[in-house]
Amino acid sequence: MPATNTIIITGGAGYIGSHTIIEFLSVEGYEIVSIDNFSNSTENTYKRIQEITGKQIKQHQLDICNLDLLRQTLKQYPNISGVIHFAAYKSVPESVAQPLLYYHNNITSLTNMLQLCQELKIPNFIFSSSCSVYGNVDHLPVTESTPFGHAESPYAHTKQIGEDIVRNFTKSQDGFQSVLLRYFNPVGGHETGLNGELPRNRPNNLVPFITQTAAGIFPKLTVFGGDYDTRDGSCIRDYIHVSDIAEAHVKAMMYLIHGKNKSKTTVFNLGTGNGVTVLEAIHSFEKVSGLKLNYEIGPRREGDVIAIYANNNLATAELNWKPKHNLDSMMLSAWKWQQHLAKEPLQC
Ligand code: UD1
Repeated sequence: MPATNTIIITGGAGYIGSHTIIEFLSVEGYEIVSIDNFSNSTENTYKRIQEITGKQIKQHQLDICNLDLLRQTLKQYPNISGVIHFAAYKSVPESVAQPLLYYHNNITSLTNMLQLCQELKIPNFIFSSSCSVYGNVDHLPVTESTPFGHAESPYAHTKQIGEDIVRNFTKSQDGFQSVLLRYFNPVGGHETGLNGELPRNRPNNLVPFITQTAAGIFPKLTVFGGDYDTRDGSCIRDYIHVSDIAEAHVKAMMYLIHGKNKSKTTVFNLGTGNGVTVLEAIHSFEKVSGLKLNYEIGPRREGDVIAIYANNNLATAELNWKPKHNLDSMMLSAWKWQQHLAKEPLQC
């Protein structure tokens, strides 16, 4: 019997990682191993994955900044087909306040992972990048060839540096290939309502803050800036359902495994192509939930770009991928998850 093909998912207990595991578990012939230190998640994520899929995955609690421990862990798996590297810090405002934390964690974990790809001859690698690498741009939508702009936050800078590291490493290694996935704004939860975004502390991102405000956890949402040069004064983003993002990871890994990639490193924008303002997102939430959200317009947030949305033609053509969910469906699924949390908080 051939050895099982293993896919390593770092940050598998996190928001996008867990949804990706759920999608990957429907592919035959792969064993999923998650590595997570629970810095912004808990072990209960794995119970939720099991509840949704009926499958239990292997998991290790460890900090991948610890190279020796990571090496010991990965050596247990003799046939690793690929790594999907999610694990990273991801808060824009936190990165502005504590840049060294971000440079240390996001870069060390990445170089450790690549070092082990080299040592253990792991051939395929997917890196979680971000549309924040583009900064504030002159022309929208952005394509993959839009050059990096000025990084508006240390978080964004770690993604620019991370992409360069992956590219340079890939170039240097025979038999190694990579995909860089630039996420726009992943939101929403699994269609069952049993998995979603669960920040351990006060959420920084818009949609969990909307749903937690609606649930009464916070009295009011502040819209960060109402005087931008946009159609209603609030910032524009490209919100994309987390399950669409998850599906793109599975397709990107298969693209590499089946040798469909045309260059050693391929970059894909993962967005819907629709620019949505903060106020439009709030109004969509109000429509699907039937609730009135308590919000006010406040000052701008440092590190924010004004407007960004994707041209996703490359991903749709090369990966045969198409986002399925619209804004209302994203908001409804996020609300379904929040309502689930309210019923069974201890399980989450
Ligand atoms: C940023 C990155 C994104 C990354 C994400 C990780 C950019 C353009 N995007 O998303 O690639 O994946 O961080 O966390 O840098 N907002 C409010 N009130 C709130 C919270 C947010 O008005 O309480 C607004 C923000 O100002 C922004 C929008 O909502 O305009 C979305 O913010 P957020 O969800 O935090 O994501 P980004 O900062 O866009």
